[in-house]
Formats: sequence, structure tokens, C-alpha cells
Amino acid sequence: MLKKSMLSKRLKSLGELILHYLPESRKVIDIGCDHALLGEYLGMREDNVEYIGIDRSKPALERTKSYYKKQYTYIPSGFLINTSNVKLLHQTGQSLQSEKSLILIAGMGGEEIIKIMRESVTKDCIFILSAHKNVNKLRKFLADSGYKLIDETVIFDKNHYYETLIVSKNATEPIHPWGSKLWESHDSQDYLKHLISREKPYIAYTGNAKYLKFLESFLC
Ligand SMILES: C[S@@+](CC[C@H](N)C(=O)[O-])C[C@H]1O[C@@H](n2cnc3c(N)ncnc32)[C@H](O)[C@@H]1O
Repeated sequence: MLKKSMLSKRLKSLGELILHYLPESRKVIDIGCDHALLGEYLGMREDNVEYIGIDRSKPALERTKSYYKKQYTYIPSGFLINTSNVKLLHQTGQSLQSEKSLILIAGMGGEEIIKIMRESVTKDCIFILSAHKNVNKLRKFLADSGYKLIDETVIFDKNHYYETLIVSKNATEPIHPWGSKLWESHDSQDYLKHLISREKPYIAYTGNAKYLKFLESFLC
């Protein structure tokens, strides 16, 4: 069992989502893992989770490895850090993904996530995607690429909102370009108000009147 670690509210929420959607294979691939704190969290909460952290930054992974060595004197079995970029997923990905993995991509913009999704083999996996910007662009890409919605939620941490989508090609609900399930939850009301107040002053310039109306229709 791993030691307890301090996680931000955002990462903890992502950890809980991973545990909720953990597939039978118990394989989790964290693309852009950086510090790989989620691997630590999962190891702390559950036995037999195979966590694979991937990051394109060698220095980040070196830092992460030495953190693990210092904390635990070993890198737990089932925890693997690859020092190459996502392309590696193409090579190792075939066998990993044949067992229906859960893939997390978090802590980057929607456009970077789109780039990664375009490059990756994406058979039967469940994806948890948490972008800090351009989420609607990501939604459109996912819908156009045949992904369906399992759920969507918003995580609030340190004055920021992170829209988080759970998608798979095997789900059935279409992905709405501006969000759907997200707005059904009472928890999203603050975020809705935040978005409306952000859009309103610029409506004449952005021409986003339809979007604004759409958002306002979910206000309680
Ligand atoms: C801000 S950190 C986020 C770390 C963690 N996922 C989180 O949510 O806290 C973004 C990480 O993604 C990595 N990254 C960005 N684009 C990537 C890509 N195309 N492939 C692999 N890693 C990528 C960066 O090197 C960086 O370590």
C-alpha cells in the first residue's frame, strides 16, 4: 500500500472518476502524466491497478521517477513510465487497448487533446478528458470522430473550472457541441453563471448570441 499524498481537488476528482469508470482490465493510461500523482493516488486506493504514465517531457519523467524512488524506494509493479511520446501508444497500444483500458488526458488545452486523440489508436477504450480551454472544439472533434458521451461534469478548483468529458465509441448518447448532461446537474449552476457573465459583455463582437441563449436556458 502506498503512502498518503496531497492531491489538488482537481486531481482527486479525476482520481475518483477513474475509480468509478475503472474497466475490468484495471488498466489506466495517463497521457501527459507529468508528476504521475494520479498513479500514486490509485495505488493508495486500490490494489491491482495497472497505471501507465506517459509524457513527452523527459525531464518531467525523470523528476517523477526520482520522486517515486525517494518516496517508495521502488517503482511499484504495474507502474510504468515511458520516456517517449504518445506515439509509443501506437506500438504498445495494440495489446493494452485490446483489453479495454481507461485513458486519461488532463491538464492541457482541448487542441492538444485533439492532437493526441488523432494520433492514438482508440478502439474500445473509455476516455476521461479534462481540458482547461477549448472544450467545445474538443466536443466537436469527438462527435465528428464517432465518440459518444458517457457523462460530463465540471470540476472547480482554485478559482478555475475544468469541464471533464467521459467518452467512448461504445456509448450511445451523442456529444452536443455545447454540452448536454453537464447542464442537467445542479452543481453546474455556478459554472453556468460564470460562463454567461463572461460571454455577455462581448456578445456584439463574438456573435455568440445563440450560445448565450443556450446557456441561459439551463439557469434555474
Ligand atoms: C500541465 S501538465 C498536466 C499533468 C497532469 N495530467 C495533470 O492533469 O495535472 C501537462 C503535461 O502534459 C504533457 N504533454 C503535453 N502534450 C503532450 C503530448 N502530446 N504527449 C505526451 N505528453 C504531453 C506535458 O509534457 C506536461 O507534462
